[in-house]
Amino acid sequence: MRVKAKLAYTRTFGCRANVADGERINGMLAEIGYGFTRDINSADLILFNTCAVRENAETRVFGNVGALIHQKRRNPNLIIAVCGCMVQQEHITEKLYKTFPFVDLIFGTHALPKLPQLLENVIQEKKRVVDISDSKTPEMSDRENLPIRREGGLKADVPIMYGCDNFCTYCVVPYVRGRERSRTPDAVFNEIRGLINDGVKEIMLLGQNVNSYGKGLTGNTSFADLLRQIDGIKSEEIGGSDFRVSYMTSHPKDLSKELIDVIAESARISHHLHLPVQSGSDEVLRAMNRGYTIQQYTDIINYARFRIPRISITTDIIVGFPGETRNDFDQTLDLIRKIRFDSAYTFIYSKREGTKAAQMSDNVEAGEKSSRFNEMLAVLDEASGSAYERYIGKTLNVLCEGAGRAGGEFSGKSREGVITDIVNTPKDLDITGKFVNIKVDKALKWAVQGVFRGVFKK
Ligand code: 5AD
Ligand code: SF4
Repeated sequence: MRVKAKLAYTRTFGCRANVADGERINGMLAEIGYGFTRDINSADLILFNTCAVRENAETRVFGNVGALIHQKRRNPNLIIAVCGCMVQQEHITEKLYKTFPFVDLIFGTHALPKLPQLLENVIQEKKRVVDISDSKTPEMSDRENLPIRREGGLKADVPIMYGCDNFCTYCVVPYVRGRERSRTPDAVFNEIRGLINDGVKEIMLLGQNVNSYGKGLTGNTSFADLLRQIDGIKSEEIGGSDFRVSYMTSHPKDLSKELIDVIAESARISHHLHLPVQSGSDEVLRAMNRGYTIQQYTDIINYARFRIPRISITTDIIVGFPGETRNDFDQTLDLIRKIRFDSAYTFIYSKREGTKAAQMSDNVEAGEKSSRFNEMLAVLDEASGSAYERYIGKTLNVLCEGAGRAGGEFSGKSREGVITDIVNTPKDLDITGKFVNIKVDKALKWAVQGVFRGVFKK
């Protein structure tokens, strides 16, 4: 099927894995002839790629879909599609299907590669289509070779694995994204080489738990091996240019010292570790089925800081897990003060149907949860507030991403993942897309300012 002169409005909610799915959705739509618009009112196809991790993400989608009723009345040929993690849950799809009879197409994460066929069924047969077939171990091959439409410019995300086997008790991801499966190193390498040839300078490897990469593949490539091989790509192979590689998300239970050694000895691997801790209490970690203790978590951080003194460390924390006592929460605050994270993504626990935690008794009042949450934000702010001062006087390697914001002539990101305003660049020199050295002279709240010291590599 090909469509003519049709415009799609697509919107992705949630994490980077979902954004990567969105890029494949847009790739498939472009291939069958759709153009793209950011004006929802002029669209012939509206597609929401949804997230299920917390309840408010779902509430927002219900609100956004509900608001389309007038548009559908004005234009009966408008196609409305909802896909992704949220609708991979049967009870949500049932509710969505019944509440919004004007939604034409609903498909889950496993049906993503079938999008062109599903759309054809909607258009040709003029009927509503639902495909949320639950495939616990979906085929990998049908995700390879999908067309991809990226908008990242200098940056690109490359999924190295799909799904998750960890079953943290609060989390819906293993239910909506299926069993963990890794792409082959060859598939990953081909994609990376293609991206670098297209001018990409920063590659983010994506997986729910990148440290368990390779399980089930023949050939025994671990994540440390994969990173070592990517770091070792010869500059001649990629036309003399250079790139940086980062990864998320690491899981503390699977992050090995060997991996930290590989990062410490590498030339291109980012010096930023995103290591979600979730809670500072061993009791809560056990109830969450996280598989590590705070002692083990702290040991990894200490080793990482010992091997890579400049490393930046960020985390995710959940407040108000069922049964979290004041004492558990105090241990989270203690951990924040002790580790001094560079930044943290913070969440109030959200009950997800079908997960183990949804069965646990929860005696903490909602009001208490939100006051703990605010208290935690204040402690995070105090503990991390001056974290960037440690970079003053240091020379950082920065990928310049383009014109600067207030203050800097250019702006970029350092190997540690720190946003950098670059000043004192020679007049008429455009350093966009180049790796440059800068010397930090000022720490700002969420960035540093540095003086240009020269182009490092193209
Ligand atoms: N409630 C609150 N936060 C959650 N996360 C995952 N599931 C939930 C939930 N049910 C958070 C975790 C995870 C991040 C991506 O989202 O902190 O690391
Ligand atoms: Fe969810 Fe845990 Fe898997 Fe992360 S590792 S996606 S929190 S189950």
